Amino acid sequence: MDNNPGVLRASGIWGVGSSVPERVLTNADLEQMVDTSDEWIQSRTGIQRRRIAAEDQAASDLALEASRIALDRAGVSAEELDLVIVATVTPDMAFPATACIVADRLGNNSAAAFDLEAGCTGFVYALTVGSQMIATGAFNRVLVVGSEILSCITDWEDRASCVLFGDAAGAAVLGPALPGTGILSHVLGSDGSGGDVLYMPAGGSRLPATEETVASRQHFLKMKGGEVFKFAVRAMARSASEAAARAGLEPSDIDCYIPHQANNRIITASASRLGIPLEKVVMNIHEYGNTSSASIPLALAEAWENGRIEPGDHVLLVGFGAGLTWGATVMKWMSDEERVL
Ligand code: ACO
Repeated sequence: MDNNPGVLRASGIWGVGSSVPERVLTNADLEQMVDTSDEWIQSRTGIQRRRIAAEDQAASDLALEASRIALDRAGVSAEELDLVIVATVTPDMAFPATACIVADRLGNNSAAAFDLEAGCTGFVYALTVGSQMIATGAFNRVLVVGSEILSCITDWEDRASCVLFGDAAGAAVLGPALPGTGILSHVLGSDGSGGDVLYMPAGGSRLPATEETVASRQHFLKMKGGEVFKFAVRAMARSASEAAARAGLEPSDIDCYIPHQANNRIITASASRLGIPLEKVVMNIHEYGNTSSASIPLALAEAWENGRIEPGDHVLLVGFGAGLTWGATVMKWMSDEERVL
């Protein structure tokens, strides 16, 4: 290992994995719960169904399954991990961090571990932090997870938001890479002035849980959908093209475009602004809905499993979310030979 201060190392993804709960909630099921229709949901969002966690399933349960798969594919044992980051807006509890719970359940009781909250951009933020930790030589094997049980903060009486969300987890194991391979660039940003377009009012120090906050449904996600929509298209196209430029690439050089899965119209509008043809765009929103910080690693794992990503391909991940936040990263997908042990 090159651990010289001042010498930065390349890093990349060694293995990916994902996990979704068994229960499927279809648009037809939602028609029985609120005043909506399959036609409205599909035409406005592209969503056909989503997965919903069992009552006893928490974020760490899905995270654990996704992590085990990613570790196995990476050929890395849990004991080798020296950092675990879990991106989530639905942690098991306020504290301790879900990352500490995941590390313990994997059998690692020494790695650094913390949660990271950047809304649906959480996985891109966590990947950036993890790769920078490897770049500096601070850590060698980093587990980055996005895991969400959004069903527990969804207001099932609000038809404007409850049709959008689902539960899932995705994980990636990062390790050092040969220069010029792995993660090539990052863009991260935020604009807190848009905090009130997507948020959960109660349960923190501003509005601790009381009978009144529960009765007034303030422990559920609130969203101004139209405002999020406009911001999302702009933020995705801008951060994706900036990440490509920082990697020395044009959007046309991207082989696989993996955007946050919030709405098929947002995805196709951002791809069209970038000039990326739809056959290079990974979309699984019809199956899972919006799974917040899990959506990008879930789509990445599926794309890899389906053979849509080959070593040498340029892969662009881009997200936006509560904060408001945005982020993008470009990587050159690594072969096993490009790992630095
Ligand atoms: N079924 C039927 N009708 C509905 C539903 C529903 N589920 N929801 C809203 N409507 C109605 C509205 O009441 C409105 O009726 P009105 O015209 O009589 O007032 C009409 O449909 C149109 O509503 P809009 O909100 O204008 O619909 P729009 O085309 O904007 O689509 C949507 C709404 C899908 C929410 C869209 O704005 C969107 O996808 N926004 C982005 C949301 C997003 O990405 N959120 C996640 C961010 S990521 C994170 O951090 C969690």
